Amino acid sequence: MASSDVARQMDKNARLLALSGHVGFDSLPDQLVNKSTSQGFCFNILCIGETGIGKSTLMDTLFNTNFENFESSHFEPKVKLRAQTYDLQESNVRLKLTVVNTVGFGDQMNKQESYQHIVDYIDTQFESYLQEELKIKRSLHNYHDSRIHACLYFIAPSGHSLKSLDLVTMKKLDSKVNIIPVIAKADTISKSELHKFKIKIMSELVSNGVQIYQFPIDDESVAKINTAMNGHLPFAVVGSTEEVSVGNKMVKARQYPWGVVQVENESHCDFVKLREMLICVNMEDLREQTHSRHYELYRRCKLEEMGFRDTDPESKPVSLQQTYEEKRQEFVGELQRREEEMRQTFVQRVKEKESELKDAERELQGKFEQLKRMHAEEKSKLEEKRRSLEEEMSVFSKRRAASELLQAQTFNTSSNNKKDKDRKNSGLM
Ligand code: GTP
Ligand code: MG
Repeated sequence: MASSDVARQMDKNARLLALSGHVGFDSLPDQLVNKSTSQGFCFNILCIGETGIGKSTLMDTLFNTNFENFESSHFEPKVKLRAQTYDLQESNVRLKLTVVNTVGFGDQMNKQESYQHIVDYIDTQFESYLQEELKIKRSLHNYHDSRIHACLYFIAPSGHSLKSLDLVTMKKLDSKVNIIPVIAKADTISKSELHKFKIKIMSELVSNGVQIYQFPIDDESVAKINTAMNGHLPFAVVGSTEEVSVGNKMVKARQYPWGVVQVENESHCDFVKLREMLICVNMEDLREQTHSRHYELYRRCKLEEMGFRDTDPESKPVSLQQTYEEKRQEFVGELQRREEEMRQTFVQRVKEKESELKDAERELQGKFEQLKRMHAEEKSKLEEKRRSLEEEMSVFSKRRAASELLQAQTFNTSSNNKKDKDRKNSGLM
């Protein structure tokens, strides 16, 4: 029997008993609160919005502090994400807050890939958590969870409609993160225009199938306020950390020549509604949704991609060990197939090389034969030449001997003639 079936059976067999005195497990909720308080909490916000739309100012206003803010340039070649983590404390509750800001969002000529870096960032945080979960020695209790719990999507106060970049980005992210759209710098848009703008935005989100985060209404204690607040989305916010004197007190506001926009005045903007919903009422639900919905989806897809599944095609449960064994067999088979493939390739290569070498040898042999022939021809020509030269030489020698003989004879004759003459001359005297 599968473990879930066993658990169900045990549930059915459990009997309800009355206690006759105090036992003490009614303190469990308190124990839970104490444990959570001592461990501290972690919350991660991603702010997506064009450069200079008011992301940092709103964060500072929301958390009543001054985070480290860097002004971004409008000339970033691609969208980047900048994450900063802070330790905050309110009463005895510690909060590890990470604020992730987009840098250069909406500034590139080609905006096609703008959302990809954001998707990758969110997936990377899920992946780190999954890796920690899959470790043999897990330490999830002190693991710094960097998964994004809330994504504030800053809409430009154009009063017109959503940009295609807004729709595409939100659509790509809605299954990965809790999106809370906000209309930024809402003090720059008139009240009637703002009302129409909100309706337009919501209808565009619905018609494009973009799922934004809905404040939960299943918990009775917050159902009423959350239902009312769902009707105010997207919140029109104004940010400012500047204190302005209004009446006899100092309030956070933006001062203009024609008047003062009070950040925390609900008739001026929805800032208080956002703070209430994001921080005071639904922070735990955002964390919970991130884990049980978005991370669960990522984990499921990732494990399925890796070949794990809960049931086989006939809906019978498959254990982890079975899947492991199947995967191992698959892997061994694949390894053998590859080995065989490599062996075949090697044999083929050797054959090719052998035939190449044979061709080269044949070619060399051919060249050698040709050279040998040429050499023999050359040799026979030279032989011929030598013979003819030798003949010439012997003719020449014969001629020289004959000429020498002739010369000697001529010399003898002339010397005899001279002697005769001399003799004659001496006889005369
Ligand atoms: P980068 O991080 O550089 O992309 O900018 P950002 O989105 O963080 O904007 P930031 O908060 O730095 O604000 C940019 C400018 O807008 C500043 O001059 C702010 O004073 C102004 N600003 C911020 N919030 C509001 C607002 O609600 N209304 C108006 N009118 N101006 C605002
Ligand atoms: Mg900023």
